[in-house]
Amino acid sequence: MDLASLQERIATRDAKLGVIGLGYVGLPVACLFADAGFDVVGIDLKEKRIDRINLGQSPIEGEEPGLAEMLEKVVAANQLRATTNYAALADRDVITINVETPVDEDHVPRYKALKSTLRHLGPVLKPGALVIVESTLAPGTMADLVRPMLEETSGKTVNQGFYLGHCPERVMPGKLLANLRGVSRVCGGETPETAETMIALYRHVVRADLDPANCVTAELVKTTENAYRDVNIAFANEVALICEAVGGDVWKVRELVNKSPGRNMLYPGAGVGGHCIPKDPWLLSYKARVGGTPLRLIPAARAVNDSMPLHVASLAERALTEAGKTIARSRILVLGYAYLEDSDDTRNSPSAVLIERLRELGAEVTIHDPYVLEYQGNVHEMAEGCDAVVVMVRHREYVGLNWAKLLAEITEGIVIDGRRAVQAQLESIQLRRIGTSPLAEDH
Ligand SMILES: NC(=O)c1ccc[n+]([C@@H]2O[C@H](COP(=O)([O-])OP(=O)(O)OC[C@H]3O[C@@H](n4cnc5c(N)ncnc54)[C@H](O)[C@@H]3O)[C@@H](O)[C@H]2O)c1
Repeated sequence: MDLASLQERIATRDAKLGVIGLGYVGLPVACLFADAGFDVVGIDLKEKRIDRINLGQSPIEGEEPGLAEMLEKVVAANQLRATTNYAALADRDVITINVETPVDEDHVPRYKALKSTLRHLGPVLKPGALVIVESTLAPGTMADLVRPMLEETSGKTVNQGFYLGHCPERVMPGKLLANLRGVSRVCGGETPETAETMIALYRHVVRADLDPANCVTAELVKTTENAYRDVNIAFANEVALICEAVGGDVWKVRELVNKSPGRNMLYPGAGVGGHCIPKDPWLLSYKARVGGTPLRLIPAARAVNDSMPLHVASLAERALTEAGKTIARSRILVLGYAYLEDSDDTRNSPSAVLIERLRELGAEVTIHDPYVLEYQGNVHEMAEGCDAVVVMVRHREYVGLNWAKLLAEITEGIVIDGRRAVQAQLESIQLRRIGTSPLAEDH
């Protein structure tokens, strides 16, 4: 099929879609296209996830407005079916790839999932199909890896046997559907005609700008926007550390700084987590680093942000020492294990780093998170007899807690508010000691 015929099938919604990888990104993408009237087949490796999706039940536990209802509806209408079997993609006209793209501990992209996807997709790829990688990629990956590997595994040539594009996602957990519909996208095509075909497709679900580009531009834009955020959070974190050292209030400073034209200082916080911000700066810089381009700012920002949970541990240690205790054998309750408020996503959790450090220092740590199955429980019961509480996530439940009651339950009355989530409540209660550190936000 040529691109003009594909565009016609897209316009009439007769084009059949496949979505590979039904995680935080792929599942809502599959649902939205199904809800827009396309026939969608979703592929994932996880059988339990597939079974749940086919029952019309969302596997995402965090607050995700509209997703569970939409999934139930499109599955019931047979617009979306999920399977582990790539053979189900053989009749698909458009296939999006939404698998994870992490980096390893040396900050090198690990494309195990992407390579496996391409290996399985190539042999079943329909002639004339359009393949769109939505996963975030290090700039150069479409040209160096995706295109040659798909040509090899499919036995077809790009722009003849199949079409190829990169349209990175801009969602964040908690707002998956709203972001998919309302945030603009870069449609990077191997050719301008492919980019136009991608725009015709996304126009069915996206209400914001759809900008045509080539693939490397799309790769650069996505990774740059997340590196931008990481660097700016690191700046706020470093100012927070300076404020602490000189006895200033970073929140007041931030508020007044932002009255100066053109300034937009972000929130400091107890660490940056999730699947995107901590690794996308490494994806952005990968090829340049390997090529020997001297890069200083992006790695420095990563180091600052990675150090924040350790800084929270040192605040806890200092507060306990001031209260006449040692951190060894102190009992500490950590509130929040997800990386983001009201989410169940624990990838690159700053709390995990904090907890490891506290345990190294000999503390007895209890963990609570209302969205993470293994850490659910009653906060008040868990706080009983603890010496300190550390708030690591701005979950709604923590903001709404009865802090006067909770403080009475903590032996030393120490609260470290790593997200400025509960400071207002604490201040109004006249607590004995508040260790405040910076706060919040990442994606
Ligand atoms: N999570 C976010 O907020 C977000 C935002 C923007 C962009 N992204 C990007 O989107 C991509 C996906 O992220 P995510 O958060 O959805 O990841 P995820 O881990 O939630 O989902 C990936 C899914 O792909 C499946 N998978 C892995 N290998 C597979 C294979 N060979 N065949 C079929 N399925 C396979 C996994 O089982 C998993 O369910 C990443 O590149 C990420 O950087 C994520």
